[in-house]
Amino acid sequence: MKFFIDTANLAQIREANEMGVLDGVTTNPSLMAKEGIKGSENCKKHYVEICNIVSGDVSAEVISTNYEGMIKEGEELAKLHPNIVVKVPCIADGIKAIKYFTDKGIRTNCTLVFSPGQALLAAKAGATYVSPFVGRLDDITSDGIELVSKIVDMYTYYGFKTQVLAASIRTTQHIIQCIEAGADVATCPLSAIKGLLNHPLTDIGLAKFLEDYKKVND
Ligand code: E4P
Repeated sequence: MKFFIDTANLAQIREANEMGVLDGVTTNPSLMAKEGIKGSENCKKHYVEICNIVSGDVSAEVISTNYEGMIKEGEELAKLHPNIVVKVPCIADGIKAIKYFTDKGIRTNCTLVFSPGQALLAAKAGATYVSPFVGRLDDITSDGIELVSKIVDMYTYYGFKTQVLAASIRTTQHIIQCIEAGADVATCPLSAIKGLLNHPLTDIGLAKFLEDYKKVND
């Protein structure tokens, strides 16, 4: 399973990249706003900065909600860097735009997906990635991981090439559950990725190794 980091924070992207396990980045308008990035030109500069840090795919989201606007924005975003993936919301004009981008060879991430039916439309339009939002479904006492699993099964059964990018990941446990569900990618906060390292037996074992080494070397 690939790891993307879900942030527009350059320091966190650098830190995750330096761990050597980062495969890409996802952003969204809320994450860009959190970093105080205003205006389309500043957003574009920021996407290029991200692409210069990470060698994998970087999702950049359109803010238009009509077909023509999405096409114009998406074409501009795709020209910024070969690793840009145009992120498009799962609405009727979005699906139509994904089909257009697919035909033009522009890669896409269909976002805000909350049902297998939406995931089916994204795949039929040729999306490169589909993003089911795990945490937001859990927030409303639905089952986000179950959705990931259903989409993986559907894509496998019908042979769709669209990759399942589990999004809205909040915890380390979500990452483990994504592995079990067969997600192709999980886009996660840095804290959840780092959480994978935590095990008390590792800490206890390391302390013991160092203690035993000291006994004979001091
Ligand atoms: C996905 O690409 C989204 O940017 C993101 O995962 C949403 O996460 P949230 O529900 O924690 O805001």
